[in-house]
Amino acid sequence: MNTYKIAVIPGDGTGPEVTAEAVKVLNAAEDKFGFKFEKTEYDLGGTRYLKTGETLSDETLEELRGYDSILLGAIGHPDIKPGILEKGVLLKARFGLDQYINLRPVKLFPGVETPIKGKGPKEIDYVVVRENTGGVYTGVGGNSQMGTANEVAVQSNVYTRFQVERCLRFAFDYARKYGKKARGAGEDNTLTLVGKTNVLTYVWGLWERAFNEIGDAEYPDIKRAYCHVDAACIYMIQCPEMFDIVVTGNMFGDIITDLGAITQGGLGIAAGGNINPEGVSMFEPIGGTAPSFTGLNQINPLAAILSGAMMIQTLGETEAAEAIENAVRWATANKLKSMAAAQMGYSTTEVGDMVAERIKN
Ligand code: IPM
Ligand code: MN
Repeated sequence: MNTYKIAVIPGDGTGPEVTAEAVKVLNAAEDKFGFKFEKTEYDLGGTRYLKTGETLSDETLEELRGYDSILLGAIGHPDIKPGILEKGVLLKARFGLDQYINLRPVKLFPGVETPIKGKGPKEIDYVVVRENTGGVYTGVGGNSQMGTANEVAVQSNVYTRFQVERCLRFAFDYARKYGKKARGAGEDNTLTLVGKTNVLTYVWGLWERAFNEIGDAEYPDIKRAYCHVDAACIYMIQCPEMFDIVVTGNMFGDIITDLGAITQGGLGIAAGGNINPEGVSMFEPIGGTAPSFTGLNQINPLAAILSGAMMIQTLGETEAAEAIENAVRWATANKLKSMAAAQMGYSTTEVGDMVAERIKN
């Protein structure tokens, strides 16, 4: 029997509540599909920072390398200055574990309401491959003459050919394996590069050259498309069906996946994974800590549950991952009234229960 060592980081706010439901569902899958999790919980995040002053220490980061995967709830605290936990925990884990891909499906489940008129699950069904360790997130820059009228601030958008190439190869491979043709949902497997070649000519020139060179040489079977990020925001609303697999840089990927999340019913159902294909990956719902719902048993756990499905998919338990997705599909189609917290018609734990029960049957 396959055994997987999983680090569980419930985190702050509603993180622990949604993580508990993801774990409940994973436990149901492990019983049914015959594999085993060895879970170790880590207390990391804002609550702990306020008590101890510690974020993610180098020692803990080293320990995390020893797991097969990491399941994260959410990190953040209203009383902590923005940047401390983001840089100290989340980005430290992503960068430290070299999770250079952030995989974010934008998929409308049946029965889920989208704000886009006239579009349904068939049209809203694509995956964003966000580069996850470069760009403006590297923190290269600084301020001088801070606090004066002459203050200068620089935040550099840094990309190396190496970073761009490995991200593109992941995206091309992903398109070959999971694109619309591969899924029987279209004629082609298409990879769309989203950038800004008309203004950020250095960085996006590099991306575009690498995209075309690698595409021609190694992936002639994958159809290529390009759009500027501002136009992509229009298309994501006007004609989301044009997208299949999308690849983009860190900052643009951050922004467009929030837009994508709202088109798929909101943060309550938007899953994600920080992937290091050669190392340890970390799966997290893309929504945050939702402080106003903490402890109320009203938050939607489906994003966390689907992140758990992505985790076992990445571990190779494809059948179990599909079973979880199908159970979620059944719940959205037949049970939940809305994806929004407090409006689901069920509590957080009830939603976890119904998905877990569905898998067992
Ligand atoms: C996300 C978040 C993070 C990001 C923040 C919390 C650092 O917005 O996962 O999308 O910008 O990547
Ligand atoms: Mn974000």
